[in-house]
Amino acid sequence: MAERTGKVTVVGAGFYGSTTAQRLAEYDVFDTVVLTDIVEGKPEGLALDLNQSRPIEGFETRVVGQTTTAEGGGYEATAGSDIVVITAGLPRKPGMSRMDLIETNARIVRSVAENVAVHSPDAVVVVVSNPLDEMTALTQLATGFPHQRVLGQAGMLDTARFTHFVAETLAVPVASVSTLTLGSHGDTMVPVPSRCTVAGRPLTDLLSAERIDELVTRTRNGGAEVVALLKTGSAYYAPSAAAARMAKAVHDDAGAVMPVCAWVDGEFGISGVYLGVEAEIGREGVRRVVETGLTDSERAGLLEAAEAVRAKQADVQHL
Ligand SMILES: NC(=O)c1ccc[n+]([C@@H]2O[C@H](COP(=O)([O-])OP(=O)(O)OC[C@H]3O[C@@H](n4cnc5c(N)ncnc54)[C@H](O)[C@@H]3O)[C@@H](O)[C@H]2O)c1
Repeated sequence: MAERTGKVTVVGAGFYGSTTAQRLAEYDVFDTVVLTDIVEGKPEGLALDLNQSRPIEGFETRVVGQTTTAEGGGYEATAGSDIVVITAGLPRKPGMSRMDLIETNARIVRSVAENVAVHSPDAVVVVVSNPLDEMTALTQLATGFPHQRVLGQAGMLDTARFTHFVAETLAVPVASVSTLTLGSHGDTMVPVPSRCTVAGRPLTDLLSAERIDELVTRTRNGGAEVVALLKTGSAYYAPSAAAARMAKAVHDDAGAVMPVCAWVDGEFGISGVYLGVEAEIGREGVRRVVETGLTDSERAGLLEAAEAVRAKQADVQHL
């Protein structure tokens, strides 16, 4: 086992945050995982529990739990983090859209981001709080960090959901399926069928356009489907897997390419917006946005998604 390095903080010890901290600790590549929340004792209790799983799961990474206040109390424990994952905020209830959360979560995310900027000025920040594109844009504004050091998690999750549905439909291993979704998290998610393969064969050879459309619709509503079943709270196993992989990609600094919500500045002819695109990830955050080859209609979908999120992101500075 190589030396464990780096400090990663997960803000918010709810379902998303606690499962993310667990995955990050179990990777056994970080020196320290810090988990925080404003509910007194919750992060300390979860950290103690996670640390006690170390002999069984066989990892040495230490987990530190720390109660914080909105004013910044307790943030000393997060100081000097290399990576911060922001999961603080309310999740959806059945019937709610992600946009219904915007005002409450903007208040929470702004204060978290300001505290992160003070205590971990060199961190790469991975945002997951919803509505995702807007909270990512707000975090960049509130931290004042360079755009490439602030990114959001959506595309990894949407792509994983799409892959799962394709594998289930064709009764093949998930490892043989490769799919891609770009654009925004929600209505303007852009599936990229031209980049979807099963054991190297184009998905379009294996499923009718109609069946692919059905799977795309189910993917687009993937979060709402889980929310409706749970009745309270939203998905966290697949979301935390996605965010943890992004944090690990920053730690590993190997240039992993993954779909993330990144600042687009000229790529695809789009500028000045946080949008779901493929990006190369390293220690500095987004090394570069990858200009994935797209068909004309996929490109048109991405342009449409960019315009849809642009206006909403422009408004976040007033939140
Ligand atoms: N991007 C995605 O793909 C995706 C997927 C699923 C959920 N989400 C979002 O992730 C967020 C968290 O979801 P969850 O299921 O963990 O919700 P949850 O209610 O289980 O946990 C949220 C936690 O945030 C804490 N919190 C609130 N204000 C805080 C602050 N100022 N500082 C620190 N912690 C604070 C709460 O006390 C709570 O423990 C929600 O906004 C949800 O919509 C995003």
